[in-house]
Amino acid sequence: MRLLTWLTFLACWGVARAEPGKFWHISDLHLDPDYSVSKDPLQVCPSAGSQPVPSAGPWGDYLCDAPWILVNSSVYAMKQIEPQPDFILWTGDDTPHVPNERLGEAAVLEIVGRLTKLIREVFPDTKVYAALGNHDFHPKNQFPAGRNNIYNQVAELWKPWLSDESIALFKEGAFYSEKLPGPSKAGRIVVLNTNLYYSNNEQTAGMADPSQQFRWLADVLANASRAGERVYITGHIPPGFFEKTRNKAWFRETFNEQYLEVVQKHHGVIAGQFFGHHHTDSFRVFYDDAGAPINVMFLTPGVTPWKTTLPGVVNGANNPSIRVFEYDRATLSLQVRSPGCAGAQEEG
Ligand SMILES: *[C@@H]1O[C@H](CO)[C@@H](O)[C@H](O)[C@H]1NC(C)=O
Ligand SMILES: *[C@@H]1O[C@H](CO)[C@@H](O)[C@H](O)[C@H]1NC(C)=O
Ligand SMILES: [Zn+2]
Ligand SMILES: [Zn+2]
Repeated sequence: MRLLTWLTFLACWGVARAEPGKFWHISDLHLDPDYSVSKDPLQVCPSAGSQPVPSAGPWGDYLCDAPWILVNSSVYAMKQIEPQPDFILWTGDDTPHVPNERLGEAAVLEIVGRLTKLIREVFPDTKVYAALGNHDFHPKNQFPAGRNNIYNQVAELWKPWLSDESIALFKEGAFYSEKLPGPSKAGRIVVLNTNLYYSNNEQTAGMADPSQQFRWLADVLANASRAGERVYITGHIPPGFFEKTRNKAWFRETFNEQYLEVVQKHHGVIAGQFFGHHHTDSFRVFYDDAGAPINVMFLTPGVTPWKTTLPGVVNGANNPSIRVFEYDRATLSLQVRSPGCAGAQEEG
């Protein structure tokens, strides 16, 4: 016991010397503004569709998207757990799972605005790198490969977080890249609009490279390599398959292939990839053509508990989650906290 404690102490001491940076990743808040704790099971939440919701509680229900108090409590919990992150990744899907007729463009923008205001209120001095999810458009999923009112309005909402160059790029295609804050100057973030690659998006079907985002991404990564930078990539819809149902890929096949090609070519500068959309905790490993692992993508769980209605999914509901990462500020390497460190420090 003593020996183990001492060894753990040594290991933890080694890690503790370089104080890690921290950042939050939140995703899929899916606020349902009309949630109410009604005695009538058919009047609880529009996001349950025609399913009855018996005995709904104030904090939410597995059949519904998130009530405001759950969203509010999640963002305030971030502040309580880690009040000074270097930055926040917020990967979209802000609106409820309801039909297009119930959620016009103005309603989508109002919800994105409400969540933006909450995050700014709780973290007024923190850089937030935000992406749109497939539900943050009207009609949902139909993201165009060019200018439109939603990209324009959201660029205005997110202006406090964005550089002038990012605002201009966002208005064209809802993607951008910036240097990460902090002393090292070697970190860069890339925020992608992968909704352009979604198989349900009819606007970009048949296009070779919607908004030339792939060409831009390859340029950003090549430039980063020349500048000696390390890059985090973030976005909403991930490439690959959904593990909760068989053979469900999100991207159209050619877009999935292009994404893999970019990662294979530029993996040396990619220090991490952070996506949402699954509502569930998962990860993806990228391989080179010889089968060696070259990169990793973390899929962060969502805040909404909403049980997916995708056919064939069992266990489609989720407990609300928020995630904090620790990383090395100089290299952007993600850090694994060794289990037992806290205990060893207390005893030591
Ligand atoms: C949001 O959460 C904070 C912290 O728990 C609380 O003080 C505040 O009253 C909440 N606001 C709403 C509208 O629920
Ligand atoms: C890459 O760097 C070149 C030279 O500095 C610059 O002109 C170009 O805009 C950069 N490309 C991107 C996508 O940032
Ligand atoms: Zn979602
Ligand atoms: Zn989504």
